[in-house]
Amino acid sequence: MTHMIDLVIFGGTGDLAQRKLLPSLWHLHRANQLDRVRRIICLGRSGHDTPAYRAQIADQINDAAESDSFLGKLEYLTLDATQLSDFDALSHLLHNPAPAEQTVFYLATAPALYGTICEHLKSSGVLALPSRVVLEKPIGNDLASCREINQRVLAVFNESNVFRIDHYLGKETVQNLLALRFGNSMFDPVWNSHHVDNIQITVAESIGVEGRGDFYAQTGALRDMVQNHILQVLCLVAMEPPASLEADTIRDEKLKVLRALTPITADTVKKNSVRGQYDDGAIDGQPVRGFLEEGGFAQATNTETFVALRAGVHNWRWINVPIYLRTGKRLAERYSEIVVEFKKHPFSLFADDQNHTPNKLVINIQPEESITLHTVIKKPGLSRGIKLEPVELTLTADTDKKQHYDAYERLLLDVFAGDQTLFMRGDEVEAAWQWIDGIIQAWQDVGVNVKPYPAGTMGPAAAQALTERDGRSWYD
Ligand SMILES: NC(=O)c1ccc[n+]([C@@H]2O[C@H](COP(=O)([O-])OP(=O)(O)OC[C@H]3O[C@@H](n4cnc5c(N)ncnc54)[C@H](OP(=O)(O)O)[C@@H]3O)[C@@H](O)[C@H]2O)c1
Repeated sequence: MTHMIDLVIFGGTGDLAQRKLLPSLWHLHRANQLDRVRRIICLGRSGHDTPAYRAQIADQINDAAESDSFLGKLEYLTLDATQLSDFDALSHLLHNPAPAEQTVFYLATAPALYGTICEHLKSSGVLALPSRVVLEKPIGNDLASCREINQRVLAVFNESNVFRIDHYLGKETVQNLLALRFGNSMFDPVWNSHHVDNIQITVAESIGVEGRGDFYAQTGALRDMVQNHILQVLCLVAMEPPASLEADTIRDEKLKVLRALTPITADTVKKNSVRGQYDDGAIDGQPVRGFLEEGGFAQATNTETFVALRAGVHNWRWINVPIYLRTGKRLAERYSEIVVEFKKHPFSLFADDQNHTPNKLVINIQPEESITLHTVIKKPGLSRGIKLEPVELTLTADTDKKQHYDAYERLLLDVFAGDQTLFMRGDEVEAAWQWIDGIIQAWQDVGVNVKPYPAGTMGPAAAQALTERDGRSWYD
């Protein structure tokens, strides 16, 4: 087997590398999917050496059977990315004994380092080798910083070699949206404003900010979750059928959705957004502290740990369909879900059709991955007349445990294969920031402050009012 790839991880000592990347690489190795990778070179300022680093990862893997061949691929190099001279040792390592056919640089550091790392890779001559770069989210903290990162990265790499990760796109059910919408003939005719009443996307977390209070105070839920995960999912729900499954064809269609998002302005922001911050409360019967105490803040901050939006995609297909988005920390439970709620039928034939229950397509992204179509059928039995009973059609494939994989496993394989379909293009990320920046500006202009909510609930009461004002409700 040709060893074609050297994978270089900047931030090899960090949380993402240790908790996600290395375990995913280990799983791929065990599944015989890592043969093409010759070395995994992990970098950081911390002064490990390769044996110490391997020993640390061996402890985490805790599985002697096949670990030697995996650990043998790992190397550790001490490198401060801000110091150009430190890249000489990396260059030497990559050229010896001979360069790999492809080098993948995975930047798992703070985004503020992305531009510098790319420039130093170029200056040190490392990029004479065929190379790809992987960038973790967030790409910047607003449109201006995102543009700066994109410009600095694209001064060094071609867009076709830049892989901007949003791990939500690596999830099976998120990719299933493409199969469901474009592999079946029955959904397309009803996938529009004539038949869809509203769309809801929820990303709920039950954890708090934990040790990341300072980071979170600079970020907030809108930037942390909506700008990337939620808008990416919305793109796949709302986009037009692409002409092919080519990466750029799909990304062109996603970009059109982002550009069609109705701006939320100073005039509309109070009606269309709710900001919240968790207070003391209880999760799973255990008392938990509010954001300010947990984050160690001496004074009140206006950081939102919850946001709900009434969004819209201003185009032919989606005009007048409200798209409700919400995310938050310390909510009642951890789950991510898309709900497409269809319009009620215009006339009820059935005496007990109290519901007039609309059909819904419910797509669970986590913790379980499933797709369920909510319908009604006749209640079985001899009772007089036809009575209705709700049933759920599960569209989930046979969940053979062996096929379960982490989103990062899928995305790493795609990077090795050079397939950009599940990665964000620079213009997509910028369009997403443009919409988000508008909301933040409107919050500032009008003075929209956070409303407290008890930990363990689904956000402030105003978030319920957001849907109820329209005569609708969240699917909880
Ligand atoms: N953690 C997650 O679950 C997660 C999820 C999604 C996205 N991300 C993103 O992934 C990136 C990394 O996050 P993280 O949570 O892993 O952060 P982290 O735990 O703070 O790790 C940062 C890493 O960067 C290295 N580093 C910092 N300054 C450096 C320098 N000057 N030169 C070389 N290495 C340097 C650190 O190593 P030394 O201190 O040894 O230098 C460490 O390995 C961030 O952009 C984050 O937003 C993280």
